[in-house]
Amino acid sequence: MPQLPTQLSLFGQKLCRESGISELMKDLNSGLQNNSGALMLGGGNPARIPAMEQLYREAMLDLLERKDDFEQALGVYDSPQGNDEFIESLVDFFNQEHQLGISKENIAISNGSQSAFFHLFNMLGGQYEKGEFGNILLPLVPEYIGYADIGIHPEMLISQRPLIKECGDHGFKYHVDFQSLKIGKQVKALCVSRPTNPSGNVIGDHDIKELAKLAKEKGIYLIIDNAYGLPFPNILFQDSHLFWDENIILSFSLSKVGLPTTRTGIIIARSDIITSFSKANAITSLASGRVGQAMTHQLISSRELPKMSQQVIKPFYEQKAKQARAWFKELMDENIEYRLHETEGAMFLWVWFKDLPISCQELYEKLKAESLLVVPGHYFFIAQEKSWQHSQECLRIHYAQDDEKVKKGLEILARVVREEYTKSSRS
Ligand SMILES: Cc1ncc(COP(=O)(O)O)c(C=O)c1O
Repeated sequence: MPQLPTQLSLFGQKLCRESGISELMKDLNSGLQNNSGALMLGGGNPARIPAMEQLYREAMLDLLERKDDFEQALGVYDSPQGNDEFIESLVDFFNQEHQLGISKENIAISNGSQSAFFHLFNMLGGQYEKGEFGNILLPLVPEYIGYADIGIHPEMLISQRPLIKECGDHGFKYHVDFQSLKIGKQVKALCVSRPTNPSGNVIGDHDIKELAKLAKEKGIYLIIDNAYGLPFPNILFQDSHLFWDENIILSFSLSKVGLPTTRTGIIIARSDIITSFSKANAITSLASGRVGQAMTHQLISSRELPKMSQQVIKPFYEQKAKQARAWFKELMDENIEYRLHETEGAMFLWVWFKDLPISCQELYEKLKAESLLVVPGHYFFIAQEKSWQHSQECLRIHYAQDDEKVKKGLEILARVVREEYTKSSRS
């Protein structure tokens, strides 16, 4: 009998190797679901907010009550573009509240925004006809770890280091380095998350318009990932706006409002991109999951979801961020040259330990041995060819778990970091 092959194809090997995102999801799963007692300040699971859970419970009960809707939500495939009613409520909402000027042809629904990025990156980046090649350019790293390995072609992603501006007491902020930004002929799209996972940075309206202008001049797309931003979950602590034109692809998600397991992502783009996207969705998924769409379409038509995002989700995270930053500063040794990125949105503290005597990966392992899980920063400096000391000196900390756990985690972090700096000053 011939042996079954153990080798995978080149694409199979790329897709199945250990990656930052697979490690992160493994850590998240072992800690959150198994009650292992670990302090889970690593992954990006949204916090459980009682008022939001109550809202979703009522929405689910309402769906159960609506004659035939529940059966349809479970029992009938949607078109690969998404559910008609859900899309209609989104068109009305985005046009009325954000003046986007879109129609049904500009929206598609995906199985979570992660899968939308898989489709979009591979639709625009990679090998083209006649030997041409397409890159996706991240104009500011650190960027979302989940982008790193989704290109079928290993060299699809390229990236640009940021400008670092130090500010205030132990603070800093990343900015797009427009002077060094080179958008070569091969670049087919720029992509940013706004607010940015991992740093909590928000690219301001002025700079995002500048990126949109550059994209327009080059005839390429600007992809803006609003997983943490407007209009839901709205974990955004500074004034910023949503805008769209045909060069822009907007991505949204229901995950961070507290519905990550419904796997619902939303894409707004030019109609031909939406048509292509829907065809790709049919090939990889047939259709997107419908339960999240069925549960939330009335919450969007009634504006309840954006309203609760503004009135409940945003203040919840804002207060948590303020508290975690205060603890961090209280616990951290003043003599250590650390800097915290400005927390302008999202769920993370991003800390930079200048001249950290060990790499952030080694620090992560030492913290893990003490049952504290964070994410080492180097994973987020995606597609950087040259080594950069800064990328080895950062950590991402999820600040929105239970207060007690966050404080305990920060105490462990402060102690371990102090020990490392002390050891190195003695040697
Ligand atoms: C910036 C960003 N974009 C996209 C995603 C993907 O989320 P989902 O697939 O749950 O919509 C995440 C998840 O953490 C994220 O942080």
